[in-house]
Amino acid sequence: MIYLDHAATTPVAPEVLEAMLPYFTRVYANPSNVHRPSLEARRALDQARQGVAGHLGARQASEIVFTASGTEADNLAVLGLARAHREHGDHVVTTRIEHHAVLHACDQLEREGFRVTRLPVDEWGRVDPQAVLEACGPGTVLVSVMLANNEIGSLQPVAEIAELLRGRGILLHSDAVQAVGHIPVDVGQLGVDALSLSAHKFHGPKGVGALYLKTGIRVEPLLFGGGQERGLRSGTENVPGVVGLARALDLACAGREERAERLRTLRNRLVERVLGELPDAHLTGHPELRLPGTASFVFEGAEGESLLLQLDRKGICVSTGSACSNATLEPSHVLKALGLPLQRAHGSLRLTLGRENTVEEVDQAAQALVEAVRRLRSLAPRSRS
Ligand SMILES: Cc1ncc(COP(=O)(O)O)c(C=O)c1O
Repeated sequence: MIYLDHAATTPVAPEVLEAMLPYFTRVYANPSNVHRPSLEARRALDQARQGVAGHLGARQASEIVFTASGTEADNLAVLGLARAHREHGDHVVTTRIEHHAVLHACDQLEREGFRVTRLPVDEWGRVDPQAVLEACGPGTVLVSVMLANNEIGSLQPVAEIAELLRGRGILLHSDAVQAVGHIPVDVGQLGVDALSLSAHKFHGPKGVGALYLKTGIRVEPLLFGGGQERGLRSGTENVPGVVGLARALDLACAGREERAERLRTLRNRLVERVLGELPDAHLTGHPELRLPGTASFVFEGAEGESLLLQLDRKGICVSTGSACSNATLEPSHVLKALGLPLQRAHGSLRLTLGRENTVEEVDQAAQALVEAVRRLRSLAPRSRS
């Protein structure tokens, strides 16, 4: 198998699994009690929180709230921040290419009477910071802009947005689920009030995430119960998961630059091979301001789903930006927001590289992809008109 779907999820690193195992078997006590095994579990949570805070440049460990996913971190930020600041306004600004964890949370806010502005992006999937500022008015309480897009890998100018919003009393959240562990993420340098991450995107376990929440900022919890996580996220803590998240982040941050450089080289090789063989193929997302491991294309005259299945038959795992429903292939909201002609958006494919991929795998995948596109085009010549 050649796995090129790391933006969807990554394998758990052996060191991460090793760090987690004792917390399933030996240190299984509930960290909320005061007997010694509980205190050991509590210590592990505290250490993990400290470690994550350090990697993100947070001032205090208490600024990290562990959640059960990146989705939950996004929901807590969008719903929790907007609801907690409702007395100051009822307006939220975001972009059209956010993950559904943000966009659908915004839909929920609308059902609760909030107004939501979903800003367009340019052809590379980047939002204009000035447009963000102009969209804000006296009633704006929250801006949510992702750091890196999951489909096309484009990076957003979050620090510039923070600069423009400074002193206006508007909260800034960034969904950094695709960015953390892959590019430098420092909450102080970014100037954000809240930032989401998810362990399974950087070789940690699935079902555990975190929200950075700047000290002093009120958020309304989504879950009520035992008051864990300073009352912001009730529920017995997932100690093995949190330990795994923290260990995975340690590993991801150590040697990140060299790893990113290697991924960029591999990705550029893949892109050059594909575009070299198929000159009318199109790389989606920004050519440089993008995640190191993300290559995303559109091919006219070849459906993304069909390409995916053809590659799967050869043991190559990739993703497409089209969702197949009721036999109609609907391009994703991200591809639509790029303004691509519908014909092109249908033939979208995302290949996301990871630390274990080799040059040989990349060459094999590029070759297989080129052949699959040619084959599909030869089968459906009329669709290219
Ligand atoms: C940008 C982005 N935000 C949020 C999420 C949701 O994270 P999780 O899978 O941990 O719920 C994802 C996952 O694909 C993502 O790519």
